[in-house]
Amino acid sequence: MSDPSWFKDAVFYELHVKAFHDGNGDGIGDFRGLLEKLDYIQWLGVDCLWLLPFFPSPLRDDGYDVANYRAISPEYGSLEEFRHFLDAAHQRGIRVIVDLVLNHTSDQHPWFQQARSSPESATRDYYVWSQTDKRYEKARIIFIDTEKSNWTWDPAANAYYWHRFFSHQPDLNYDNPEVQREMLDIMSFWLDEGLDGFRCDAVPYLFEREGTICENLPETHAYLKEIRKRLDQTYGDRILLAEANQWPADVRPYFGNGDEFHMAFHFPLMPRLFMGVRSEDWHPIVDMFTHTPSIPENCQWCLFLRNHDELTLEMCAGEERDYMYYAYARDPQMRRNIGIARRLAPLLDNDRRKIELLNSLVFTLPGSPIIYYGDEIGMGDNVHLGDRNGVRTPMQWNADRNGGFSKADPLKLYLPPISDSVYGFHVTNVDSQRQSPHSLLHTMKQMIARRKTQPAFGRGTLTFLHPKNDKVLAYIRRYRGNELLLVHNLAGSAQPVELDLSAFQGQVPIELLGGSRFPRISKGLYSLSLAPYGFYWFSLEQPQHDDPSYGIEGSVV
Ligand code: GLC
Ligand code: CA
Repeated sequence: MSDPSWFKDAVFYELHVKAFHDGNGDGIGDFRGLLEKLDYIQWLGVDCLWLLPFFPSPLRDDGYDVANYRAISPEYGSLEEFRHFLDAAHQRGIRVIVDLVLNHTSDQHPWFQQARSSPESATRDYYVWSQTDKRYEKARIIFIDTEKSNWTWDPAANAYYWHRFFSHQPDLNYDNPEVQREMLDIMSFWLDEGLDGFRCDAVPYLFEREGTICENLPETHAYLKEIRKRLDQTYGDRILLAEANQWPADVRPYFGNGDEFHMAFHFPLMPRLFMGVRSEDWHPIVDMFTHTPSIPENCQWCLFLRNHDELTLEMCAGEERDYMYYAYARDPQMRRNIGIARRLAPLLDNDRRKIELLNSLVFTLPGSPIIYYGDEIGMGDNVHLGDRNGVRTPMQWNADRNGGFSKADPLKLYLPPISDSVYGFHVTNVDSQRQSPHSLLHTMKQMIARRKTQPAFGRGTLTFLHPKNDKVLAYIRRYRGNELLLVHNLAGSAQPVELDLSAFQGQVPIELLGGSRFPRISKGLYSLSLAPYGFYWFSLEQPQHDDPSYGIEGSVV
């Protein structure tokens, strides 16, 4: 068995099979197509893929409405093709996790169809029924764009059923031991197939209790610990990654004492990274870390900039939320629920410097980074597609028909590819960026490769320096005697900064991305200048004999 803490050094990549590559030419991506692109994923340096739900589904929530947990949706291929893909990924040293949608099923799931048919049915108690819609009134509504209540009347069942998301996604009843057992078995089913773990969807909402907001309940944590126990008993080095869109203090219990989740997304940090660069101020970012409790040694944050959902502002209140809408979504078309449905490049005005800067932050702050497919080439979005589909368009491989995604008639594609003159596949695609040594894609690949040379990125402690210039974010990462200094200019103008590096006197900063040797750290403040949105990744090393103590001359290798 491999190192069970592999996930701490890993770079993750999120994709939808449907959106990545179409192997059989029907306009929908599939496992055969994905297999053909594994070399690309390996070339980029990805360690672990997160696949969005690929199970049979009416696709009214893009697969998060599961109708059968133990099969592959035929559009994406057969179980054989899935196995073939998984083997090929493993052969390349790439692990694969998939969504485990615990909280709810599709209303098309046979459990629900049976449940609604009669109060006596064997699965009636798999769901949460009520004769009134006045229970659990403290629970908020999550999809406020589409839902008015967490209860929907079902005339067939002659009762209301409970749902935290879309009304076609009834919540499972975790007070029922049968439901608990079913989900554990489903988990084992996929682990036996060889999957490396799960991104567990919407975990805060498993249980309901009157008088509470029905989130993060002790009962929910107790069940999640059962899941972890089953995983550990039989399947050593697999992982569980929590989707708990909560304040850090409420996410902290999902790590338990290292006996619940291995990883959890850091949701509230994400909008603060965008806030920091827009306001040219490190305070929003540093403040978020003062709210971030430490986590057990065998756990890890997962840091992200974008994913398949809207840029959620649920963890931003009042002025901060207003600011984010003002700064990033002036056009109301861009808003979804409490958030902004846009991709990374358009959010950042397609400014290469800002795109690299924000990626540098998620590559160097504590946690493991995850890249959303297409963001490594700066793909655009289409805010006019409904729901969150605007950020789920086909991957752009080259300038050919359908951007190389599919050979199908363009009208048959599951969604139209981006084709505008800035982000369209004719200009923005993998092929052209692979040919251009200074493309965003090459920079991303290089950052991934450099990150892997320094375990301190995934495992080190974090200490912020607090320079007077509040446009410059600087921090130290330390792991087993290795020390890294990270300096980021959040501003669109060149900036000077003076850092108190007295603890490192005598050491020499080596810039990891370019390999340059900088002047030795002496007494007093250490001066640096940064280009607009510029950043440095320094390793602080012991001096060699001929290192000058200060000055620029002779410092360049
Ligand atoms: C999670 C998913 C989202 C989905 C929701 C309901 O938040 O990320 O895409 O709509 O769960 O399943
Ligand atoms: Ca296909």
